[in-house]
Amino acid sequence: MNPTIDLLQGHRSIRKFKPTPLSDEQKQAIIQSAQMASSSSNIQAYSVIGVTDPELKKELARLAGNQSYVEECGLFLVWCADLYRLQQACAKHGVDMQHQYVESFLVSTVDVSLAAQNAAVAAEALGLGIVYIGGIRQNPAAVTELLKLPKLVYPVFGMCVGVPDQEPFHRPRLSTPSVYHENTYQPSQIAQGIEDYDQTMRDYYHERSGGKMDTTWSKQISEKYAHPSRAHMRAFLDDQGFGFE
Ligand SMILES: Cc1cc2nc3c(=O)[nH]c(=O)nc-3n(C[C@H](O)[C@H](O)[C@H](O)COP(=O)(O)O)c2cc1C
Repeated sequence: MNPTIDLLQGHRSIRKFKPTPLSDEQKQAIIQSAQMASSSSNIQAYSVIGVTDPELKKELARLAGNQSYVEECGLFLVWCADLYRLQQACAKHGVDMQHQYVESFLVSTVDVSLAAQNAAVAAEALGLGIVYIGGIRQNPAAVTELLKLPKLVYPVFGMCVGVPDQEPFHRPRLSTPSVYHENTYQPSQIAQGIEDYDQTMRDYYHERSGGKMDTTWSKQISEKYAHPSRAHMRAFLDDQGFGFE
């Protein structure tokens, strides 16, 4: 249809990489693409740490719940929501930044997510592969200390970038009517969407595991949300200066 749309629709996460570092040109293209993402009021409330040091990568792989590809990828990016720079900008004008509001947490988290996704697309356009790593929020305080992040900065997720050493299946998504509602939200579309997707994912897991895996999307969601998830995040964010007023 169009090379950009083909690229977007061809996405799949890569979890096995060749041990090839990224060139400076590749890094620059990826980061500069990230920087051109839209940003709430142009506040650009994010920073990204590019980790190439083998020891740091090894430790981050462990902190992310022993995800070996963090260590193996060419470049590990840690995407951080960043209110620290904004505080400095305010201080330049004698203003005590009011950062303790949910809104500041939200806009910085949205800003970093948009930048990261631009980086992901740029990397894939260069023939590289990526996988996001939310696993770094297993141990956010240790990641913060390791990367020397100041207060008012928090690691939102990591991203492995590198030369793919696998050709994984594309993971099917919910049907479009499940996520796209014309004019008003259509609750009546939801149950059928789950039903259809459960069938799609049952077939996908069955094929991918050579018949060993028998589960569905809704089953996995029900297992995931039967328990609290990373309940330490609230206290950690409070500690880093992200407030919930
Ligand atoms: C914010 C975020 C965090 C993620 N964290 C992890 C992770 O820690 N480990 C991992 O292997 N995949 C992680 N993923 C990848 C998702 O599992 C993956 O994108 C999803 O299953 C869809 O598969 P696909 O990207 O291959 O299409 C994460 C994705 C996102 C967006």
